[in-house]
Amino acid sequence: MMRVLGLETTCDETSAAIVMMRPGAGGEILANEVLSQIAEHAAYGGVVPEIAARAHVDVLDRLIRRALDTSGMKLKDIDGIAAAAGPGLVGGVIVGLTAGKSLALALRKPFLAINHLEGHALTARLTDGVAFPYLLLLVSGGHTQLLAVRGVGDYVRLGTTLDDAIGEAFDKIAKMLGLPYPGGPMVEKAALNGNPERFNLPRPMMGRANADFSLSGLKTAVRIEAEKHAPLSRQDVADLCASFQAAIVDVIADRVRMALRAFHEQIGPPTALVIAGGVAANGAIRRAMSRFANEVGLHLVVPSPALCTDNGAMIAWAGIERLGLGLIDDLTFAPRPRWPLDVHAAPSLNGKA
Ligand code: KG4
Ligand code: ZN
Repeated sequence: MMRVLGLETTCDETSAAIVMMRPGAGGEILANEVLSQIAEHAAYGGVVPEIAARAHVDVLDRLIRRALDTSGMKLKDIDGIAAAAGPGLVGGVIVGLTAGKSLALALRKPFLAINHLEGHALTARLTDGVAFPYLLLLVSGGHTQLLAVRGVGDYVRLGTTLDDAIGEAFDKIAKMLGLPYPGGPMVEKAALNGNPERFNLPRPMMGRANADFSLSGLKTAVRIEAEKHAPLSRQDVADLCASFQAAIVDVIADRVRMALRAFHEQIGPPTALVIAGGVAANGAIRRAMSRFANEVGLHLVVPSPALCTDNGAMIAWAGIERLGLGLIDDLTFAPRPRWPLDVHAAPSLNGKA
């Protein structure tokens, strides 16, 4: 039996979680305390790094204590301390990393420096016991990637975004249309009452042989339509949201199809298609992926929204996987604001992992 404490502070969620692994029985989340900073950042329409770092400092200790209480564990019962060491906002990363190292030092327990993206990537193994290798669509506010997950620490990037992340595009469209932050869920909600065919928006990259994304042209097209029809009625906003979402869904389906093709060529058949990251909460995207998986006969795994957005359980689980393989880190491990999962892939053009 193995129990690991996981700390997440790379963006605007502070989280401490305890996950247990029983050999043969898989993982079990004993506590997953998450505090979102949405309220602190809402007035600025986006995450303010300085505010985020301070908020992490303010609440992390309390969340660790709460995770211990919820799980009924004492610190001495913990077998390892895992902290997200990047990629992300460096001020926040330092907070979680320092807390994790200090606990590991004081308790004389193994320390595990976790790549935040690996946390997202391995979550499907915690929730559904998915076997390697699988195709991962990672879509959040900071990341948009298609990855072949071959093993712990073994990733091949099949596609990435050349500009904005998909969640970022949702957030920017929302801001443009006067919807509150964070925009993704608001755009989805507005789209429910909209006509997806009213605006004929571009589907950037569709039909290209690679599996990359580009969102800036689509974003600009929405801006042009919004300006053309200003002042926007409620219906205009709904129609723009619906049309934008329909374009995104088409693009994702096409890009995933390309990535699957590359997966078969480079690696062989995947065991599953996994979606992770905050954007995976989007119903239209989920439905499209479900249709696609059915069509190609692939098992689709989408962790619950609480485990798709940033959380400590995914960091603890990645810690368990690494600890099980003896991949322990040194207490000198430095924060990595940029930290690609696929070390052989060319640096992404948007400067994010
Ligand atoms: O994974 P996450 O919580 O944080 C990181 O970015 O790492 O993802 C948050 C992103 C935001 O951009 C948010 O607008 C987007 O996920 N999002 C959605 C939906 N819910 C969250 N985008 C589209 N539709 C949604 N329902
Ligand atoms: Zn994330």
